[in-house]
Amino acid sequence: MEIKVLNAELKEQDCDVLAIGMYEKTEILQGVAASVDDELSGLITEFVIKKDKFRGKFASTYLLQTYGKIPANKVLVVGLGEKEKFTPNKLRELSAKIVKKALSINAKKVCADLGKLEFDASLSGQVVAEGALIGEYSFDKYKTEKDEDKVKIEEFILVEKDSEKFTKLKNGAEKGEKIANAMTFARNLANEPAQLVTPTKLAEIAKKIEGIKVKIYEKDDIEKMEMGAFLAVSKGSSEFPKFIHMKYTPQNPKKKIALIGKGITFDSGGLDIKPASSMLTMKDDMSGAACILAVMNALKYFNPSVEVHGIIAACENMPGCAAYKPGDVLVAKNKKTIEVDNTDAEGRLTLADALCYACELGVDEVIDIATLTGACMVALGSQAAGIMGNNQDLIDKIIKSGEAQGERYWQLPMFEEYKEGLESDIADMKNTGSRGGGASSAAIFLQEFVTNSDWVHLDIAGVAFLEKPQKELIKGATGVGVRTLLNYILGI
Ligand code: BES
Ligand code: MN
Ligand code: ZN
Repeated sequence: MEIKVLNAELKEQDCDVLAIGMYEKTEILQGVAASVDDELSGLITEFVIKKDKFRGKFASTYLLQTYGKIPANKVLVVGLGEKEKFTPNKLRELSAKIVKKALSINAKKVCADLGKLEFDASLSGQVVAEGALIGEYSFDKYKTEKDEDKVKIEEFILVEKDSEKFTKLKNGAEKGEKIANAMTFARNLANEPAQLVTPTKLAEIAKKIEGIKVKIYEKDDIEKMEMGAFLAVSKGSSEFPKFIHMKYTPQNPKKKIALIGKGITFDSGGLDIKPASSMLTMKDDMSGAACILAVMNALKYFNPSVEVHGIIAACENMPGCAAYKPGDVLVAKNKKTIEVDNTDAEGRLTLADALCYACELGVDEVIDIATLTGACMVALGSQAAGIMGNNQDLIDKIIKSGEAQGERYWQLPMFEEYKEGLESDIADMKNTGSRGGGASSAAIFLQEFVTNSDWVHLDIAGVAFLEKPQKELIKGATGVGVRTLLNYILGI
């Protein structure tokens, strides 16, 4: 699907579907919607609003034929909801809705202008483009039977008469397109089965990214770096672990940051094996890594003045005959010792060594993103990711960056007392705490490996992979974090 922005009049557009917006309770059409209605001799006011009682409720739609009165074949009236409650996030969601509706009626050419909105044209362009591309997304490459009648949307067209606004709209749409493509990159990776997306595959993908330097540490390098926690997790699998370090270096960096993504390409739980139903979606345990790869791949389009390190400790967590065992004592890169309490708490072990490595780079900030705990999923469901860290200012900035992009974070506590649960009789700590407060004790564990850097931890266990569609997203991988991190980096 190509996104086009035209400096033109909406009602004159020749297309399959022309989408216009209507706020709730207003009962009248405004701006471009009114002018389309005029061309249709008041058809929308008379039949859609008065007779059929279309009220403009958020995300409701009404599709009508135009019978040759305007060049467009059909008009889709989209409910914008209450005017005071309208936000860019809602506009993104509606844009996805228009695309899904258009796909369902096999439209090839879609034109949209939801009206005079209360925010900047460049932001409108961005979120509309994002929504359209996110809404178009599907993952059906393994289906052999294709629906013969199904057509693809060829063009999604935005129109703006005012030439100044048009330029802003166009620039915004170009930015939105890049961000949505980065999400698609991450979603595709996390939707792929684990048999294909192995640690080796992640390393290959990293090496192909243009505009960055990439170093892959092999198993013996990882041994030399004394990453005893990461190595232990990898032992039960026949797949080789890969430690991936990507680096983007601009001319005069304002800041240096490191992004770490959890890269467990399959989490069986290890010897503390998961029940079948919990293992079912564990190909997604590399969603953090997918997000970081997508962000690193997108940097070349934006050239931000920030030095960005992308770090992934990639391996499988399997119960093979060499697997690490409950009771084992591991020595992490910073020499701290960890007693293995549960082999299914593997993510924090791989992240521990990755955090040590990142902090040794002398960066200002470290942000890790991980499908880390079922406890976070229980606490927040699929409506928000958990956020914790050692610097409230940075936490607030990330929450804001996410909110503006339709990704929600909710801060969970890191009370000192959670540390008591991690106490071990024989080592510096255990890898799991008491049953309650699992997301918090995981963060407390991670903090033991952070030195001299501001740090934020994002627990995306509940939001990385959806069991049913939610807003602009379909089931499956969501690409969560991509929008937040890109928005954060571009705002530095
Ligand atoms: N990858 C899982 C966490 C997870 C759960 C992600 C559900 C997505 C959906 C993680 O490695 C894990 O198994 N965590 C354990 C920790 C426990 C043993 C302390 C958990 O949350 O059950
Ligand atoms: Mn696990
Ligand atoms: Zn895991």
